[in-house]
Amino acid sequence: MTEVTGWIAGRPRPAGICIVSRMFPAVMSPKSIRRAGPAAVVALGLLIAACGGSAEAEFNPPPDEQYPQSQLEAGRDVYLSSCTFCHGNKGEGGTGPNLRQVWERRSPEDHLQKVTEGGNGMPGFGRSLTEQQIADVVAFERAGWDLLD
Ligand code: HEC
Repeated sequence: MTEVTGWIAGRPRPAGICIVSRMFPAVMSPKSIRRAGPAAVVALGLLIAACGGSAEAEFNPPPDEQYPQSQLEAGRDVYLSSCTFCHGNKGEGGTGPNLRQVWERRSPEDHLQKVTEGGNGMPGFGRSLTEQQIADVVAFERAGWDLLD
């Protein structure tokens, strides 16, 4: 077990917060690996496979923004019904850009405006969605991608 622990400790962590590591935060600690034994090694194998697997899954929520879980869930539903066609089932992009780290490029105000008014191939949703729905989908696109992973 110690060898495995050392190997894991020496492995560079992926830049993004890996989704699986959030689901099994305990597995990340060498102490808990020793305690949990083989099960932890299996879980870590899955974790490393999942982390290394796809760069498009990367998502780090904005550190300075908090949204209620209920709003993130409402926004996810808006996203799934109105936005996947161009931005992908998980925000990975398509004809529209990857949105998983969109908060780094846009302030909340700018983000709201983009969804409301559109432009450059992005349809404006100011008429087809309510202000609340737009606020919800913006919250989701900033901080909710792990709901779809
Ligand atoms: C018909 C295709 C299409 C649909 C549907 C669509 N978008 Fe877009 N979206 C685009 C394109 C194309 C761009 C790039 C526009 C640009 O570069 O200014 C974009 C850009 C964006 C951006 C800015 C991205 C950035 O990198 O700054 C956001 C935010 C966004 N869309 C949100 C949404 C939301 C929310 C929905 C659903 C309510 C949605 N989009 C639906 C095509 C689409």
